Amino acid sequence: MEKVAATRLLICGLFAVLCLFSCPATSSEVEDESEFSYEEDEKNGPSGWGEIKPEWRLCNTGKMQSPIDLLNKRVQVVSHLGALQMKYHPSNATLKNRGHDIMLEWAAGAGYLQINETQYILRQCHWHSFSEHTIDGKRFDLELHMVHETEAGEAAVIGILYKIGKPDAFLSSLRDDIKAISDKTDAEENVGIVDPWLIKPSSLRYYRYMGSLTTPPCTENVVWTILAEVRTVSKKQVKLLRDAVHDGSETNARPLQPINNRLVELYKPKAYKKD
Ligand SMILES: *[C@@H]1O[C@H](CO)[C@@H](O)[C@H](O)[C@H]1NC(C)=O
Ligand SMILES: *[C@@H]1O[C@H](CO)[C@@H](O)[C@H](O)[C@H]1NC(C)=O
Repeated sequence: MEKVAATRLLICGLFAVLCLFSCPATSSEVEDESEFSYEEDEKNGPSGWGEIKPEWRLCNTGKMQSPIDLLNKRVQVVSHLGALQMKYHPSNATLKNRGHDIMLEWAAGAGYLQINETQYILRQCHWHSFSEHTIDGKRFDLELHMVHETEAGEAAVIGILYKIGKPDAFLSSLRDDIKAISDKTDAEENVGIVDPWLIKPSSLRYYRYMGSLTTPPCTENVVWTILAEVRTVSKKQVKLLRDAVHDGSETNARPLQPINNRLVELYKPKAYKKD
């Protein structure tokens, strides 16, 4: 026992030293998520994330943090944004248990989302339950984030909201792989070639605003796209994702952040009749 503990300590120490000297500053989400929690009554809970590390300070001091409530009353309906420009392709993917969430990573990228002239490469997707964004104060059961990044590290995220109902086909296709890494923090499972189109990310209407990553380091200037159409997921699927991370928490949804006069737009094609 003692030997194991000593070895662990040595390895941890080594990593700490290595990290001190070689870890580059990055806008990517933190991989080891055990350093923060979602429990408000814990010191490392959401309102204290910004005090855990200097490079996480935006979590507390940032003025354009996510998630937010998408209040239809203050949303500006626009048609100039245009339909989402996505050029995805199937790519080799790995499922990872990050301790607070399950992430599907396309290491080589799986195509891109283009906004204005910028191409944001699809890197990974992961799930939050309950949903992080709310619409008119209504919280949903699950939220999928498709995380895109440019080479320079600028991020654009597509968020998809789900309420309890029929199973989601994408999650159904990953069920056995999620089970395989269930309850094992840092476990990985190569799942082979996965086509992002299985997520069915296209939508006629979407919300757009500028925000941040919803986990430390809470990096800002993230272009958010939240699809207006709410999908369905089964209770079992939400439970599978929640049980898989086993972080002792009921949720991995960050509480709502102040909007601070930010512009929130709702894109609707001109011909769109239904409200
Ligand atoms: C996908 O990646 C895994 C792990 O890196 C590798 O073993 C496997 O051969 C790759 N599969 C394909 C189809 O490229
Ligand atoms: C896209 O371009 C428009 C017009 O120049 C600008 O207002 C908007 O902020 C840009 N959007 C993003 C996400 O860069």
